[in-house]
Amino acid sequence: MKICLLGLGYIGLPTACLFANANHEVVGIDVNQEIIEKLNREELPFEENGLEELFEDAYPNMRFKTEVEEADVFIIAVPTPLNKEMKMAELKYVRSAAEMIYPQLRIDNLVILESTVPPGTCDKLLVPVLEESGLKTGDFRLAHCPERAIPGNTI
Ligand SMILES: NC(=O)c1ccc[n+]([C@@H]2O[C@H](COP(=O)([O-])OP(=O)(O)OC[C@H]3O[C@@H](n4cnc5c(N)ncnc54)[C@H](O)[C@@H]3O)[C@@H](O)[C@H]2O)c1
Repeated sequence: MKICLLGLGYIGLPTACLFANANHEVVGIDVNQEIIEKLNREELPFEENGLEELFEDAYPNMRFKTEVEEADVFIIAVPTPLNKEMKMAELKYVRSAAEMIYPQLRIDNLVILESTVPPGTCDKLLVPVLEESGLKTGDFRLAHCPERAIPGNTI
C-alpha cells in the first residue's frame, strides 16, 4: 500500500518508519523544508529511543517532500496545540493538512486523523474540506485514531 503521512514530528515520523518497515511505500510530508532536507540526507530531526535503527531499516521504503501526492492512505499527524485564549485545541494545522490532501483524494482512499482533536472535528472540519474533492464520505473512508504515545517513547 502507498501511504502519505503528513507531519513528521514525534508521532508522525516513528509511525511512518513502522509502516515502511512493514513494507509499505511511505511518502513523508512536512511543511517544514528544513526537516525534509534533513531526512533526505538520512539525518533524524530529533532523538528517540530506537528510532535510529528503525529509520535506517525503513529508509529504502521512504521518500520525503513538502507536497502531497496520490496515495491509498493519508495519515494526518500534525500539531494541535492548546490555544490558551480560546481554551481549546488549535485546529488550523489539521485544516491545512486536509486542504493539502483533498486535491489528491481518489475513490476508496482512506484518510486517518491521528492528531489529538476535540469531539466533532471529523464531521465539522475534516469532512467539509475533504468533500471539496467532489467525493462524498463513503466514496473515501475516514477514521480518527488518536495517538496515546508518551513523548520520546513512541516506539
Ligand atoms: N508527542 C506526543 O507524544 C504525542 C502524544 C499523544 C498525542 N500527540 C498528538 O499527535 C499530534 C502530533 O504531535 P507531535 O508531537 O508529533 O507534533 P510535532 O510538533 O512533533 O510534529 C508535527 C509536525 O507537523 C508539521 N506540520 C504542520 N502542519 C503541517 C501540514 N499541513 N502538513 C504537513 N506537516 C505539517 C510540523 O512542521 C511538524 O514537523 C498532536 O495532535 C499531538 O497532540 C502527540
